[in-house]
Amino acid sequence: MLPSPAKTDPICLDYQATTPCAAEVIEAMAPWWREQWGNPSSRQHRLGLLAAAAVSEARERLGRCLGVTPERIVFTSGATEANNLALLGHARALARRRSRPGHLISVATEHHAVLDPLRQLEREGFQLTLLTPAEDGLLQPAQVEAALRDDTQLVSVMAANNEIGVLQPMASLGRLCRERGITLHSDGAQAFGAMPFEPDALNIDLTSLSAHKIYGPKGVGALVRPLALPIEPLQWGGGQEGGLRPGTLPVPLIVGFATAAELALRDQDRRMQRLQQWRDRLWMGLRTALPDLLCNGNLEQRLAHNLNITIPGVSGSRLHQHLRRHVVCSSGSACSRGEPSHVLMALGRSRQEAEASLRLSLGWATTEHDIDAAIAAIAETVTRLRASAL
Ligand SMILES: Cc1ncc(COP(=O)(O)O)c(C=O)c1O
Repeated sequence: MLPSPAKTDPICLDYQATTPCAAEVIEAMAPWWREQWGNPSSRQHRLGLLAAAAVSEARERLGRCLGVTPERIVFTSGATEANNLALLGHARALARRRSRPGHLISVATEHHAVLDPLRQLEREGFQLTLLTPAEDGLLQPAQVEAALRDDTQLVSVMAANNEIGVLQPMASLGRLCRERGITLHSDGAQAFGAMPFEPDALNIDLTSLSAHKIYGPKGVGALVRPLALPIEPLQWGGGQEGGLRPGTLPVPLIVGFATAAELALRDQDRRMQRLQQWRDRLWMGLRTALPDLLCNGNLEQRLAHNLNITIPGVSGSRLHQHLRRHVVCSSGSACSRGEPSHVLMALGRSRQEAEASLRLSLGWATTEHDIDAAIAAIAETVTRLRASAL
């Protein structure tokens, strides 16, 4: 049994860090832990064959959710690994073919799981251009076009930002890259399941996904790739996943991932409408109570469940320390190693402003009451902190 939240639990508005596993997902995974515990690579007995069939069925179901054929899905441990495999694996394979490392383009507001592999490639001799988006977090396709060089191999732009929720113009970027024969990678961890998202419709070549952002289990994700694109594996072993990601497949997690994807797509439009309504109510309520609040990121081109605000004139550490009891939220990515948000600073916020910022992300279970309680708690905390600083 999952512990049910106590009445005094703070309101959770941190669903972009992760999500709880949906009951249907737990139920779908259950038999694959104990009764059907076979290794899908064991081809000589029923236990193994059943596990292999479960993986194959899950791959097909996930493929349908993404509009891709199942062979194009490589299961990984999450979006971090998928990003590493896409970026390191593809860039190195191209460099080997062309006998030299080429040029890579990405954006300063990407997740560390994209920026860090790109920095590694830089250490290996690749040249990296990191573009700075406009103040509202949006990248203009013309910026990418202007940065392209004859030796540009790869462009990596996330579909939806994990901190400020902005949606990058993937379809235009996809067209641009396709016309030039340049690979486009997109970290889709925050987009898939939260909005309509099909890589082929956007001309995205390589897509990274994660199950735990969509009410699935932690520890599983996927890379979607075209079969013809060269990718070098990052590890070697038993040849699973076409040799791209060797290692025994986590059957329960894969079954859970497919179930979570189907659930996330079911009723997606209605859910997005509801979340956007609550998100807008949150923003309006906070702005009415604290008129000097700043909203980070474009409010239109944005995930329905994300709000990110900067609160002028308060200390970030005191703000988070006092708010913690009432509202679960963060100042940025859970993977930011405690540093102020590089995303907010890339948009021009100072270090102090970035620290005094809140990423508020709504979940499927968020209610109107949660929103009103969060508005009251944030407004009260900020007012008290401001008064005590006088
Ligand atoms: C945009 C983005 N990329 C990658 C990751 C990492 O995903 P995972 O935890 O599946 O490795 C996250 C989650 O923190 C994310 O939000």
